[in-house]
Amino acid sequence: MTGYACVVTAAGRGERLGAEMPKALVPIGGRAMLIHAVSLMRARPRISGIVVAAPVGETENVRALFADFADVTVVTGGESRTDSVRAAVAVVPDDVAGILVHDAARPFVPAHVVDTVIDAIEDGADGAVPGIPVIDTIKEVGPDDVIVATPRRASLRAVQTPQGFRADVLRAALALPDADATDDAQLVERVGGKVRVVPGHPDAFKVTTPDDVARAEALLTERIAHAD
Ligand code: CTP
Ligand code: MG
Repeated sequence: MTGYACVVTAAGRGERLGAEMPKALVPIGGRAMLIHAVSLMRARPRISGIVVAAPVGETENVRALFADFADVTVVTGGESRTDSVRAAVAVVPDDVAGILVHDAARPFVPAHVVDTVIDAIEDGADGAVPGIPVIDTIKEVGPDDVIVATPRRASLRAVQTPQGFRADVLRAALALPDADATDDAQLVERVGGKVRVVPGHPDAFKVTTPDDVARAEALLTERIAHAD
């Protein structure tokens, strides 16, 4: 593996979706969300290998899904998302320049968003994450739900994946004691890494609730129609 590796986090239970199977295995257009996400990453020329963090108990099933792809490795994920990232990064070869971390739950991130993340790292950033402006005003509240701060909306971004990092920087961030976070950039920020926000895209939304499955199905149908 040279160039960039992509870790695909797929080990979550998908409690908010409430399907009978782990969220990453829920089909969209007849194929597991995870397969869409991995296929998209495999098609990017600068990504030379993929590591999937599979749900506990599903490792062999997920391996079977990718049996024909020599560039896809499957490991068992962990209790938290950060544990899953750590398990996957542990098997990424030492010689890669950068590592992208992508949620299987974002099966339709546009290819140009992935390329822009890699471009920013090539350009010297320690990391790059796709982000879009927020629509609502965001409030920070205390334990009693009383507002303690109102960040200026124009300076806020809702961030998506893939989040890409120089490999050495991400490894250092994941080695932090008690490292746990809802995204990977937070950990890199904690080790002093400079992470740039690049333009994200609405199609990179995260499938979280049943409504999102319908939205993903509609997006896939639209993409197939436009591909003809
Ligand atoms: N994830 C993971 N390992 C975990 C938890 C989450 O690999 N222990 C992955 C999910 O599979 C998903 C991504 O991280 O692709 C983003 O997490 P989220 O959307 O929260 O997915 P789930 O944790 O599966 O959903 P929920 O929080 O509703 O249970
Ligand atoms: Mg979760």
